[in-house]
Amino acid sequence: MERLDKVLANVGYGTRKEVKILTKKGEVLVNGKIVKDSSAKVDPYKDDITVSGEKVLYREFIYLMMNKPDGVVSATFDNYDETVIDLLDEEYKVFEPFPIGRLDKDTVGLLLITNDGALNHKLISPKNHVDKVYYAEIDKAVNEKDVAAFKNGIVLDDGYKCMPGKLEILKADEDGSEVLVTIQEGKFHQVKRMFKSRDKEVVYLRRESFGPLKLDESIDEGFFRELTPEEVEALQSV
Ligand code: URA
Repeated sequence: MERLDKVLANVGYGTRKEVKILTKKGEVLVNGKIVKDSSAKVDPYKDDITVSGEKVLYREFIYLMMNKPDGVVSATFDNYDETVIDLLDEEYKVFEPFPIGRLDKDTVGLLLITNDGALNHKLISPKNHVDKVYYAEIDKAVNEKDVAAFKNGIVLDDGYKCMPGKLEILKADEDGSEVLVTIQEGKFHQVKRMFKSRDKEVVYLRRESFGPLKLDESIDEGFFRELTPEEVEALQSV
């Protein structure tokens, strides 16, 4: 059992003080009865709680899929730039969510956002070998030697040898290339640095999938949706 004011504050009905005012006004019903004492104990999972006639959906965790736009940083706070969290509605921000892993400021595509620390830990742990697939446009013609080098494990500028990566060429000519890259790690600027070691430049980068989840094409850049229970389940079982 938890205090009514804590439960309502947790799901975004304001501060405890604001919730107290709402409750005093008789706006809050628990199992059909007006409750004016905001310190009353409730079971947020079992009791039927409404605020101004709206049913309260209680939950501890949120799971979102964002199509990250260009120019926004994958952080919860930044002194200069807009963050992916700034793009969320207040009803989600109250859960204090954070991105799972990072995409560069100029990388677009699939970014998962949650407040579930255990799931985050599991998904970013290198032990778990979660595949991430990127679509990339490259300034030069990518060739079979690059494919072999990715497979063998690229050595980055700092001497780190990457785990084997999969490079698929979709299109390649002297004007540039379109490729798909599958990697399991998430080193800083990894895909860009992998190509740099092959003397090539990534000019556009979009994450297409993360583990079992593909970017939902109906989500425009800068927008997001909640994961379905099946999608959350798929992530939990990687
Ligand atoms: N690799 C990069 O270079 N940048 C990203 O944002 C993700 C992977």
